[in-house]
Amino acid sequence: MSGLRLAGKTILVNGAATGVGRATARMAAVEGANLALTDLNGEGLELVAQELRSAGAGVVTVVGDSVDGQVPQELVALAESKFGYLNALVNNVGIIILKSLEDTTRDDFDRMMSVNCYSHLAAIQAVVPAMRRAGGGSIVNVASVGALVALPNVSMYCPSKSAVLGLTRAAAAEFSPDIRVNAVCPGGTATEMSRIHLESFDDKEAATKKLTGRQMIARYAQPEEIASVIVFLASDESSFMTGATVAAEGGHSAW
Ligand SMILES: NC(=O)c1ccc[n+]([C@@H]2O[C@H](COP(=O)([O-])OP(=O)(O)OC[C@H]3O[C@@H](n4cnc5c(N)ncnc54)[C@H](O)[C@@H]3O)[C@@H](O)[C@H]2O)c1
Repeated sequence: MSGLRLAGKTILVNGAATGVGRATARMAAVEGANLALTDLNGEGLELVAQELRSAGAGVVTVVGDSVDGQVPQELVALAESKFGYLNALVNNVGIIILKSLEDTTRDDFDRMMSVNCYSHLAAIQAVVPAMRRAGGGSIVNVASVGALVALPNVSMYCPSKSAVLGLTRAAAAEFSPDIRVNAVCPGGTATEMSRIHLESFDDKEAATKKLTGRQMIARYAQPEEIASVIVFLASDESSFMTGATVAAEGGHSAW
C-alpha cells in the first residue's frame, strides 16, 4: 500500500488550466493519480500537463469547449486507452457574466446554463459508462457559495450554480451506490475568476471587504484549500458520501 489517497486511480478534471482546476490536478498527481485534463485554454493546459509529467504523473489532455459533448467523450476514450480505466471526474468548468438580472439577455442565460451546468451533465454522461467498467467511481461537481446565497453583480451565476446542486442530487440518486456524486460550494477564492469579479466594482478595496466580510473566515481562499476538499470527495475517504453539498466558503452561508 502506497498510502496515497488516489494511488492507481485515473481522474478527469475539466477547466484544468488555471485556478481551482489546476490546483486539483496538482494535488491529485501528488496523491498518486493519473490525470485526464481538458480546458479551452490550450496553452495553459499544456503548461500544467508538462509540469505534472515532469513530476512523474501520467497525463492525457484534450483541448476544447466542455459545452461540446464530444470533448469529454474523447478524453474518456483517451484515458481508458492510456491508463485502462477512469475512476473520478471533477466537473470544475465555470464562468461568470458581470451583469445584473435586468440586463441579462437570453444569450447570456443560455451561455451561463450551458457552461456552468450542461458541461457538467455532458461530462457525467461521458464518464458513467467508463466508471461502470471500472467497478464504480466518484464525481465531484464544483458549484459555488452563489448556489446557497445571493452574490452581487453576477446575476445568472447564482441560479446556474443552484442548478449544479440539483444535478448533483439527481445524478447521485440515478447512479448510486456504485458511482457517488457530490458537490463542493467554494467561497471567494483567489483565482482569475474572482479577479474579474472584483474588476466590476469601482472601489476594489471596499468590494474585497464587502465580499470576504460576509465570511466568518474573512479572506479569499487559496485554490489549494478548495482542491483539498475536492480530492477528499474524489477519493475513497468519502466512501459513505453521495448527493451531498459540501460548503467550503469560510462560513459565508452559515450566519
Ligand atoms: N474563484 C472563486 O471565487 C469561485 C467561487 C466559487 C466557485 N468557483 C467555481 O470554481 C470553479 C473554478 O473556477 P476558478 O475560480 O478556478 O476560475 P478560473 O477562471 O481560474 O478557472 C476556470 C477554468 O475553466 C476554463 N473554462 C471556462 N469555460 C470553459 C469551457 N467552456 N470549456 C472548457 N474550459 C473552460 C477556463 O479556461 C479556466 O481554466 C468554477 O466552476 C467556478 O464557478 C469559483
